[in-house]
Amino acid sequence: MKHVKFIGFIFFLFSLTESLALPTKPQDVDPFYATQKFIEENTVYLTIIAVAQYVQEVSFDEVETLVKVMMDYRDGCLANWTLPECSKRANEAIQDMICSSEGLPQRHNISHCCSKVDFARRLCFFYNKKAKTGFLPPFPTLDPEEKCQAYKNNNGSFLNLYMYEVARRNPFVFSPVLLTVAARFEEAATTCCEQQEKATCFQDKAAPITQYLKASSSYQGTVCGALIKFGPKVLNSINTAVFSKKFPKIGFKDLTSLLEDVSTMYELCCEGDVVQCIQGQSQVMNHICSKQDFISSKIKECCEKKMPERGDCIINTNKEDKPEDLSPREPKFTDSQNVCQERDSNQDGLLIEFTHEYSRRHNYLSTPELLRVTKVYKDLLEDCCSRENAAGCYRHAEDKFNETTEKSLAMVQQECKLFQELEKDALKLHYLVKFTKAAPQLSLEELVYLSNGMMEVLTTCCTLSEEFACVDDLADLVLGDLCGVNENRTINPAVDLCCRADFAFRRHCFEHLEADTTYVLPSVSALISALHSDWCQAHNEDLQNKKHRFMVNLVKWMPEITAEECMCLFTKFTAAGEKCDEVQEPETCFHPEGSNIDNESGAANRNDKIPEVNISISVKCPNLL
Ligand SMILES: *[C@@H]1O[C@H](CO)[C@@H](O)[C@H](O)[C@H]1NC(C)=O
Ligand SMILES: *[C@@H]1O[C@H](CO)[C@@H](O)[C@H](O)[C@H]1NC(C)=O
Ligand SMILES: *[C@@H]1O[C@H](CO)[C@@H](O)[C@H](O)[C@H]1NC(C)=O
Ligand SMILES: *[C@@H]1O[C@H](CO)[C@@H](O)[C@H](O)[C@H]1NC(C)=O
Ligand SMILES: *[C@@H]1O[C@H](CO)[C@@H](O)[C@H](O)[C@H]1NC(C)=O
Ligand SMILES: *[C@@H]1O[C@H](CO)[C@@H](O)[C@H](O)[C@H]1NC(C)=O
Ligand SMILES: *[C@@H]1O[C@H](CO)[C@@H](O)[C@H](O)[C@H]1NC(C)=O
Repeated sequence: MKHVKFIGFIFFLFSLTESLALPTKPQDVDPFYATQKFIEENTVYLTIIAVAQYVQEVSFDEVETLVKVMMDYRDGCLANWTLPECSKRANEAIQDMICSSEGLPQRHNISHCCSKVDFARRLCFFYNKKAKTGFLPPFPTLDPEEKCQAYKNNNGSFLNLYMYEVARRNPFVFSPVLLTVAARFEEAATTCCEQQEKATCFQDKAAPITQYLKASSSYQGTVCGALIKFGPKVLNSINTAVFSKKFPKIGFKDLTSLLEDVSTMYELCCEGDVVQCIQGQSQVMNHICSKQDFISSKIKECCEKKMPERGDCIINTNKEDKPEDLSPREPKFTDSQNVCQERDSNQDGLLIEFTHEYSRRHNYLSTPELLRVTKVYKDLLEDCCSRENAAGCYRHAEDKFNETTEKSLAMVQQECKLFQELEKDALKLHYLVKFTKAAPQLSLEELVYLSNGMMEVLTTCCTLSEEFACVDDLADLVLGDLCGVNENRTINPAVDLCCRADFAFRRHCFEHLEADTTYVLPSVSALISALHSDWCQAHNEDLQNKKHRFMVNLVKWMPEITAEECMCLFTKFTAAGEKCDEVQEPETCFHPEGSNIDNESGAANRNDKIPEVNISISVKCPNLL
């Protein structure tokens, strides 16, 4: 990650803001002042978020202590901003506080970061974040009556606790999202605690909040993962596609200047700087709102709102209509004689402009698809520009674009077809089997998480008119979760390559993965014995979960098992229930005639050839679930 560029912004620029806000101007109209004020008012939440996201193991008591330290610091600086410690950035101040808190760095294994300085320390804190939060206890669920009692007794502390629990489990989500979540939760508590049916009320209100949090976290994690793994150019091309689709009216010059602010915002937010993330987002929104005439006619009402609603409102507004005079094709990229010259002098610029022009014209495509088309164009130019008749070569670029898009369309149609045809359990097993074949090294929890992710994507998207973009955009986020934000995961070489090779083509790469056979057991008897001992271990889990683990193990340990064998084994094990010694001759599943029980070469031979994922495995077997 680059050094952050936002030099002008420090946490408590109180007197500077005062001088910026001219006396004749009502202060809350000045965006800079409003942002600053917002940050000051939310110092408690922002401190909780930063601490809980950086050091997820931290206890709530420790957080409360740090909040007190931070509030004293803020008050001291507000009283006298010339104090030397007040020139620090907030993020630095918070990290200083974590590091100088008695015993805390040692207790939570963050000392190695505290011994570093400046950029190295910030990076170290960032790498300390863990996306998989299985090491934390499950999210505490209180009885609604208790919840309301706690809220009534001490609403501030209650909401702080909630913020802490949410932030430590979503270490990469941006601070404005968490502040919105907290505000909506507070609203829910206020409403629900006055009602008779508190539990139902909380359930109804919590669902959209959770949905919003998950969706934001997944999107932001994926984009930050792209920034970390592929660098600022890919970040810029993602945002070029996203903004050009949403605001097709915007000219390329205006877009370029807006995207500078957007990139800065992402760099700040991805790093985990909760305060500058807010300033960065506010800067982007001010930029958009100050140029509405050139950008969009649909955001007027949003721009009249205050932080943090304003940002969400703009993000959720419908796409602006395409300008009527926008030609269906931009000839500059395929019909002009001097494309290769332009490419030689400024390839990145040419490609970004191409992404912009293509995206605003094809705003019904997914973001990854727009990046794929750009990649196809880049590769085509590379080929054509080395040829004699370059212009004749790239004139047919559009065929190539359509070819790529058709492949992606076919993939989505296939996915939605499965969704229409299979029952819910069967579909889930299909994805469990598919993910297990590709990445048997993952834990059952993660495999189930990813499968549920795909189920949600298809449930959300497969009936919409913009089915393609919806599936392709959201399924890409499931892979983003799999590939990780701040780490280069080492799952297995094929999966690692898909995560790392090309951001745009991730989905295609995963689609063509073959089964990884690292985990394959050498023989039928080894398989049965392993299934047996796993089934009989006390896992303290419900039957559904046990059955899922059984399926995952079956596929891990024998990826090429047939549907009949699978169903047979499954029946025998589940019939015996918890009574392990009563599994009836599972070996016979592989030898219906009951002979050759000890002959293992049959099973071993089949491991040589790994077939494609056979859907009938997941269709027949799980009907029993
Ligand atoms: C503010 O802090 C500066 C630097 O420590 C000090 O010189 C000054 O006297 C302080 N001003 C007030 C009003 O306390
Ligand atoms: C502490 O963190 C370091 C660096 O991330 C890691 O190598 C080490 O295993 C961690 N120790 C514990 C006890 O978690
Ligand atoms: C707590 O409740 C009081 C009275 O209802 C209200 O004035 C205050 O703003 C609330 N505090 C928080 C942090 O919501
Ligand atoms: C490519 O696809 C678009 C949209 O389906 C269509 O309008 C266009 O004619 C196609 N172009 C070519 C060269 O096939
Ligand atoms: C992951 O890989 C990228 C690109 O190869 C590299 O720049 C980055 O430092 C790596 N990150 C980690 C945490 O190793
Ligand atoms: C999948 O497995 C079933 C049952 O073993 C078999 O009949 C079918 O031909 C297989 N399909 C493919 C595409 O391999
Ligand atoms: C074991 O199975 C293989 C393949 O099914 C077969 O060729 C071989 O004759 C069998 N060996 C014995 C001892 O039955």
